[in-house]
Amino acid sequence: MEADSPKGLRPETLAVAFGYDPADALGAVKPPVYLTSTFIYPSAQHAKDVHEAFFEGTGPLAETGGGHIYSRLGHPGLDILESRLAAIDGAEAAAAFSSGMAAHSSIALTFVQPGDSVLHGRPIYGGVDMLYGSVMPRFGTQVETYQDGTDPDGVRAAARAAMAKGPLALIVAETPANPTAAIVDLDLMVAVADEVGRETGRRPLVVVDNTLLGPFSQRPIEHGVDLCMTSLTKYCAGHSDLLAGGVSGKFELIHSLRTLRTTWGNHLDPFTAWLVVRSLESASVRIERAMANARSVAEFLRDHPKVAGVTYLGFLKEGTPQRAVYDRQCKGAGSTFSFHLHGGEAESFRMLDNLKLLKLAVSLGGSETLICHSATTTHYAVPREGRLAGGITDGTMRLSVGLEHVDDLIADLAQALEAV
Ligand SMILES: Cc1ncc(COP(=O)(O)O)c(C=O)c1O
Repeated sequence: MEADSPKGLRPETLAVAFGYDPADALGAVKPPVYLTSTFIYPSAQHAKDVHEAFFEGTGPLAETGGGHIYSRLGHPGLDILESRLAAIDGAEAAAAFSSGMAAHSSIALTFVQPGDSVLHGRPIYGGVDMLYGSVMPRFGTQVETYQDGTDPDGVRAAARAAMAKGPLALIVAETPANPTAAIVDLDLMVAVADEVGRETGRRPLVVVDNTLLGPFSQRPIEHGVDLCMTSLTKYCAGHSDLLAGGVSGKFELIHSLRTLRTTWGNHLDPFTAWLVVRSLESASVRIERAMANARSVAEFLRDHPKVAGVTYLGFLKEGTPQRAVYDRQCKGAGSTFSFHLHGGEAESFRMLDNLKLLKLAVSLGGSETLICHSATTTHYAVPREGRLAGGITDGTMRLSVGLEHVDDLIADLAQALEAV
């Protein structure tokens, strides 16, 4: 049996019940929602011991923590979600935040010092681009980017350029990248971090955004990355009804994130944590169905005369470096991809305005199929040349394929394409 977790259980099994003991809640098969802001202590000494354990990691309650203090510092729903997420990701520990961007910002503010440099790929989610391109430079962070995350020479040259600007603190990779499905070689990122560490005595942390494939189809921690970040808003929660973010990694790193989270105040609240725990149980099944639907939709679009191309991981050509990385790193092609119409904005808008079932919205990973015109929505703020360099034309649309019957999805796209 493949041993993916401390108990030898697979991620799909861990997602169903790990991290919760019904004996803690009167035998309830599902965890209660602990809607409380603060916690009562049995004695003044116990209160002191709990604080010592939390802030110093010492004292009689150092091993167990001894209980909770105040929900911003931690609460039972967070404990359940974090232990489950860590187990699913195959990590020592995890921390949950109020959104994916809260998780990204916390990583940056915790691990980057003024004057440090950060290396990240392009394209990357716009919020992360803004975090490193506009926000962190206000605190003295220098940023460098690599273009092709499968090209060892290019990535090493970009790392050198970053180091020339300041000590390299983070190597950030989003793979596959949003919206073009550009793939990044995680083993290469870890190798480059190790080389920088040997050369300078300070090894940068490798941070991977695993949102697009999620924990069941890509397992970054097994490739040696330091922090695996996931926007739980997307496939893990899976119903487009909440915002949440998670980070998994070594206990020491997660402890630093959790400690500063008490200052940022961007922890995940009890009810949303409960919703994510509930949704994680069925995430692998939902993702499997969405991926099967996505393949059929991608094949339909690829063969359609009005479609110029489809950027879908499942179509990566044999013999390319991207395909080699995909085969080594991914267990599925996901259900978010782009297609490119012949024509531009006018043709795209005609198609979108004629859709009856697919919903015109940004975001991805929900039960419903979402579609958007990249240049005028998710990449509105990116200059045209930058968009074109990233493979986003005026006819590019991003699809997040959901759980509807695939024939209905294809029929809706077919009738909308008639209007183009
Ligand atoms: C790849 C990726 N990372 C991070 C985020 C940010 O997540 P959230 O919206 O939960 O803050 C998104 C949001 O779309 C995303 O697509």
